Amino acid sequence: MGYQAIRKNGFWHGADYYPEQWLDDPAVLEEDIRMMKLAGINVVTMGVFAWSALEPEEGKYTFEWLEERMECLYRAEIDVILATPSGARPAWLARRYPEVLRTGSDRSKNLYGMRMNHCYTSPAYRMLVGRIDRELARHFGSHPALKAWHISNEYHGECHCGLCQEAFRCWLKIKYGDLDSLNRAWWTAFWSKTYTSWDQIESPSPVGERAVMGLNLDWKRFVTDQTKSFMDMEIEAVRTFSPDVPVTTNMIGSFTEIDYPRLASSLDIASIDIYPEWRPRNNVRTALDAGFEYDVIRCLKKQPFLLMETTPSMTSWTEFCKPKHPGQHLASCIQAVAHGATSVQYFQWRKSRGAFEKFHGAVIGHSGHEHTRVFREVSQVGEVLGNIPQIAEAETRAETAILYDWNNRWALDGAVGLRREKKHEEIVREHYRALRRCGKNVDVIEEEADLSCYNLVIAPMLYMLKKGLAERLTKFAAEGGTLVLSYLSGIVDENDLCFLGGVPGPLRKLAGVWCEEMDPLCPEEKVNCLMKSEVISASLSESECACSDYCDVLHLEGAEAVAVYQCDAYYDGFPALTCNRYGKGRVWYQASRFSEEFLVELYRDILSHIEKKSCRFLSAGLPYGVEYSSRDDRNAVYHFFTNWNDRQITLKVYNALDYLTGNRMEEMTTLNPFQSIVIQEQCPGN
Ligand code: GLA
Ligand code: ZN
Repeated sequence: MGYQAIRKNGFWHGADYYPEQWLDDPAVLEEDIRMMKLAGINVVTMGVFAWSALEPEEGKYTFEWLEERMECLYRAEIDVILATPSGARPAWLARRYPEVLRTGSDRSKNLYGMRMNHCYTSPAYRMLVGRIDRELARHFGSHPALKAWHISNEYHGECHCGLCQEAFRCWLKIKYGDLDSLNRAWWTAFWSKTYTSWDQIESPSPVGERAVMGLNLDWKRFVTDQTKSFMDMEIEAVRTFSPDVPVTTNMIGSFTEIDYPRLASSLDIASIDIYPEWRPRNNVRTALDAGFEYDVIRCLKKQPFLLMETTPSMTSWTEFCKPKHPGQHLASCIQAVAHGATSVQYFQWRKSRGAFEKFHGAVIGHSGHEHTRVFREVSQVGEVLGNIPQIAEAETRAETAILYDWNNRWALDGAVGLRREKKHEEIVREHYRALRRCGKNVDVIEEEADLSCYNLVIAPMLYMLKKGLAERLTKFAAEGGTLVLSYLSGIVDENDLCFLGGVPGPLRKLAGVWCEEMDPLCPEEKVNCLMKSEVISASLSESECACSDYCDVLHLEGAEAVAVYQCDAYYDGFPALTCNRYGKGRVWYQASRFSEEFLVELYRDILSHIEKKSCRFLSAGLPYGVEYSSRDDRNAVYHFFTNWNDRQITLKVYNALDYLTGNRMEEMTTLNPFQSIVIQEQCPGN
C-alpha cells in the first residue's frame, strides 16, 4: 500500500482543521465548509492534539462532534486524514499516570505541560494511547471520508526515566549479547570505563557520562528504535479496525534527532512539514535548501509524498515572522510539487483565538472571512493544482544521489577534535545546491540505499562507514559509476572505532589516495587551488578557487592529481583534488572544501562526461536562481522551472506550451520573479 491508495484523481489541497476549538460557535463551523469549498480545499487533517475533546475523562468518549464534522466534510466531498491524538495529553491523564511525563537528560522530571512531553517506554502511556487509537479506529475506521491515518504529530524528543534506562539496557543486551563485546565496541578501557554489570550503564547525561562515543551513538539509535516501536504500536492499534487505510506521520525534513529512513520503514506514505524562512529578497538559497528537505523526505519511500504542513502566510516562531510576499506562496507550493509532493496542506485552516499559536498564519485569519490576500493566494493554489491532476502520481527519477546518513551525521557531529564545528550539514547542502544548479534531480539517500540506479554518487564527509558500504561503493565504481568522496571520509566504523591502516580506511584503494595528515584551516589561512587540467574554467575568481575548512595532506596511490594546493604551508604542491580510474568507473577525492561555484563547474564537467542523454530544455544552461526539476509518469515528462531571483530571467524553451496556463511560449520566454512554468514533454510512442 502506498501513495496510490490515497487519491486517484489528482492533488490533495488541504489544511489542519481544529473544529474542537470552536464547538460553541456552530456558525463558525458552517462557514468553514463553505470557505473550504471556495478555496479549493479537498482534504483536512483532524484530531491532532484533540485528546481532551475526545476523552474528557478516562474511558468516557465524546466522538459526536468529530462524527458530525466527518459527515459534513463527506457531504462536501472533502476527504479526511484522521490523526491519533498522542502528541499532547489531557491534564487528567498526566495527573493519574505521572509516569507518562518525560525525564530530561539531567534526570529532572517534567511537570505536566506543552506537548510531546511523554515517555515512549511508559507501559501506562502505551496502554492509554493504544486504547484511544483503537476506539477512534473502531468508530471511524470505515468512514467513507477517511482516507489516511496521521499517526501522532512530529515525533521527537527523548526520555531518561528509569523505565527508559531499563529498556535501553535490554536493547544493548540484544545488540551485544555480552558485556565483553559492548566494552570492546565502546573502547571502554579508555579512562577506566569498563562495565562489569549491565545495571552500571546509564544513558548519556550532562551530569554524567558523555565521553563514550559508542554509548552516545547507541543511545541515539535506541531513541529512534523506541520512537519507532511506539509508532508501530499506534499503527497496529488503528490497523486493528481499518487495515486498508494507509498510515503516515509528519516528519520535519532533515530533522536530526530521529533516523527517518528507519522510522519511515513502517509507513505507507512519507509526509513533510516545512516552513522555509522566505525573505523578500535572496530567495534562491532558501529555495534550494527547501528543495533539499523535500528530497530527503521523497527518498524515504522513493515515491510522491504529502506536504502535510506549510504556512499559507507566516509562522509564529521565527525571529521575524514575515508574511509571504505576493506570488511567493504559489511558487513555494509549485516547488513542493516539482520535488514530488502529491499534496499541498497547511498548518492551519483557521487561526486559533488564544494560546501559543494565535499569531501563526492560517487560511482564515481572525477577521473570519475570505476577503483577504492570503485567502486569494491559497485559492489560486487550489485552482492550479486542480488543473494538473496528471502530475500528482508522476515520479521523480534521479541518476544522481547524495549520501546523507543519520548515523554518519551523529558520529561526525559528536566527534571531538580536528575542528570544533564539523559542518557536515552545511557541506552536504553545498554539494546538493551545486548539483541542483546543474539542473539535476537529486536523490538524498542513506548509506544502506541501493546505488544501482545512479551514475553519479556524491558522498561528502563520509566519516562513518556502516558495514558493507565500502564494498557496495567499490562495486558501484567497478561497474562504471562515478563516485565523489571528500576529506573526513572513511575514518570510523559503525561503532565509531577508527579504521587502522590509514585514511580513508576501506575506501583507500578505491580513491587511490592515502591521507597522511589533516590540517584544519583557521579563518585567516589562505590556501589556493591550482588546476592541472581543464576541468574548471579560468573564469572562476581567486576566492572561488580558494580552499577552506580542511586540507588533507595526500599521497597518490594510483589516482591522478587534478588540482594541487598553492600556499606557503608545508604541503604546497600536494594534491587538492584527485581522480582515480577504478574498474569501469571513476572516483574523485576532494581533499579540501571548495566553493559552491567551484563545485558547480566540477559537477558540470563530470556530468558532461557521464550523461547519455541530456535534457534539451537545459542545453542552453540553467540561469542562476532558476530551479529546475522534473517528474515523469512514463507517458510524459513534466519539466518545472521556477524563477527565485528578484528580477526577470529569459529562458530558452523552444516554442513549448506552459502546462500551468496553456499559453504558448516562443523560442524564448521570460520568467518573472516567483513565476513557474511547466513543460509537458510526451514520451516517444505516446
Ligand atoms: C509544527 C506542528 C504544528 C504547528 C506548526 C507551527 O509543524 O506540527 O502543530 O505547531 O509546527 O509552525
Ligand atoms: Zn521514560
